[in-house]
Amino acid sequence: MIDRATVDRILDATRIEEVIGDFVSLKRRGANYLGLCPFHQDKNPSLSVSSTKQIFKCFACGKAGTAVSFIMEHEKLSYPEALKYLAKKYGIEVVEKEQTPEEIAARLKGESLLIVNEYAQKYYQQLLWDPARTHLVGLSYFKERKFTDDTIRKFGLGFAPAGGKSFAATAKEEGYKEEYLVDSGLVIRRDDGSLSDRFYDRVMFPIHSLSGRVIAFGGRILTSDKSKAKYINSPETEVYVKNRSLYGIYFAKTAIANKDCCLLVEGYTDVISMHQAGIENVVASSGTSLTVGQISLIKRFTDKIIVIYDGDAAGIKASIRGIDMILQQGMKVEVVLLPPEDDPDSFAKAHDREEIEEFIATNKCDFITFKTNLLLKEIDNDPIRKAQLINDIIESVSMIPDQIERNVYVGQVASRFDIKEDAVFQKIRQLRSRRSSLEQSRSRMSQSDGPVPPSPSDYEPLSAGYEENAAKESVETAPQPLTDAFLAVNEKEIVYYLLKFGEYPLHTDDSLLYEGRNKPADVPTVAEYIRSSLEEDDLQFENPVYRKIYDEYFARPRENDTDFEIAQGKIIRYFSTHPDQNVSATMMDVICDNYPITVKVYRDSLTPEEQMLGKNVPRAVIAYRIKVIDRLCAATVKEVDAAFKRGDGEACKEKMRLLSALNTVKNNLLHLQSSKK
Ligand code: CTP
Ligand code: MN
Repeated sequence: MIDRATVDRILDATRIEEVIGDFVSLKRRGANYLGLCPFHQDKNPSLSVSSTKQIFKCFACGKAGTAVSFIMEHEKLSYPEALKYLAKKYGIEVVEKEQTPEEIAARLKGESLLIVNEYAQKYYQQLLWDPARTHLVGLSYFKERKFTDDTIRKFGLGFAPAGGKSFAATAKEEGYKEEYLVDSGLVIRRDDGSLSDRFYDRVMFPIHSLSGRVIAFGGRILTSDKSKAKYINSPETEVYVKNRSLYGIYFAKTAIANKDCCLLVEGYTDVISMHQAGIENVVASSGTSLTVGQISLIKRFTDKIIVIYDGDAAGIKASIRGIDMILQQGMKVEVVLLPPEDDPDSFAKAHDREEIEEFIATNKCDFITFKTNLLLKEIDNDPIRKAQLINDIIESVSMIPDQIERNVYVGQVASRFDIKEDAVFQKIRQLRSRRSSLEQSRSRMSQSDGPVPPSPSDYEPLSAGYEENAAKESVETAPQPLTDAFLAVNEKEIVYYLLKFGEYPLHTDDSLLYEGRNKPADVPTVAEYIRSSLEEDDLQFENPVYRKIYDEYFARPRENDTDFEIAQGKIIRYFSTHPDQNVSATMMDVICDNYPITVKVYRDSLTPEEQMLGKNVPRAVIAYRIKVIDRLCAATVKEVDAAFKRGDGEACKEKMRLLSALNTVKNNLLHLQSSKK
């Protein structure tokens, strides 16, 4: 969190004409400035920037806001990220206490891992470019692959030298704690206690989080030695959750939003070569098949994915697996197969941007055509196999959550294979009801047996209602904190604020004084506040309905309503008419004040709710974060126990340290909570 005083200093220093002037060439026109609007295809300058009011407005597309909202929108940053951007521009130090060794140790482990990764990135990068050493093999490898210096710098590529101890040794010398080096996976502790590097004699690809921090690495050998793994990757850590990371997302997010489309490729080099060719809306699933978490990352920026995979058999298989999952998330998917000898990397190197775009545009096909073409070849008029193909395609169609969209495809399948639409509809009904009853039993299991690992179909409608959760909460007693329902009540509370007040400014105490009910400048909305606080800890709701609401809330296209009540009205309309009945029912409960949650206890019965947002929303978020930590603590206590029983003193100590770090965080939150009372 950035403290209020610093926020004020940043906002005081900020000159909107300078901030926008970094991206748009502005011409003075009286008291204002004029330029081409970057948010739409502007032919005549329609963007007006007022230096006296410190706001901008586009007369063509209607976008308007402050310097902060301009940066948020243009650079796709969260509110705190945008503030940090401005702080950097104006040389203002953002007070975030850090850096003494004691403080580093006391900080959240995740933060420490990020620091270690950042250090490692600099270390490998510096070795790549260091002319005094023999490491130029790394640089020549990249040059041989036709990466330019700019590209190599942009992606922060590096080199880990042979020998296998130098990173561990240097990092320790520099004062990085052994436990964090080991926990980051960059260093491995041998049985005899000695330390060695995970990555050696490899070129290094840092993997960035959505906000651009290094969270992991992939390392590639420089030869084509088949006896060694081509790539080695960082293991999963607190900051690197593989199924929620996408290689390249940080560099691609703006282009994905602008193009309203995301290209999905397989590997590190594919992403890099496409960027170098000038195509930036591209991310890689890094060789694994796509996961729900990865898709929802993309969904924040667009609902269209084009899968570009190698034309070889393995590539085709991988894309088929991905398709159903993308459909299931309610996204539109198309597929491009490259010529059999190419992968996106080689293709991007052999063609320029226009050729690549042209190839994609003419070769992309929707999933029905793709599957049909692919499988028809194998069928040879065999009626049984033809039936299998049709079933296979219908199964894909049945994954689409939106009924209207589904129906469009039903028509297509029916006419393509010359079967009755009714038959297709019936089959889809069957498949969907089977899946939803499967889901119900899964959710019942998960409620009684503690958390289950997220499943690909977590988003499928659940008919287990809120009442069930609520009933459970009341009988639940403290020693059983590991069930989903434990968190559901807090998630519900946050969803309540999103659906009812998401677009309202957070500090509404005196907002009624504002004319025209416009959002006061530079105050985050309730939704922005919630999102940035949860993002800080990388938290994701567990209840599938709440998660769906949360994800869609932020994924749906924004209109630029300056009146927050009108904006909220649109949110309410969107969710109350949602095709997923669990979602629309939640919305209705919120509107009808029929929302049986603990927040009622907090509610101040005399003050109107919207005037309490500045207090109650942070309170709800903090309460949720405390519960998440409680749960982590409970799990860690169990691990301490287990380690103790095993007689593993080292693990025991380590878990105790984690526990005490968690407690520190929790105490800070409790402190915050009491200050909000
Ligand atoms: N991959 C991996 N481990 C391997 C092989 C592959 O993690 N042993 C992942 C990497 O993320 C890689 C992606 O799968 O980028 C795609 O694999 P592949 O196509 O074999 O690698 P490329 O990225 O194309 O690398 P190169 O062009 O250098 O062969
Ligand atoms: Mn390749």
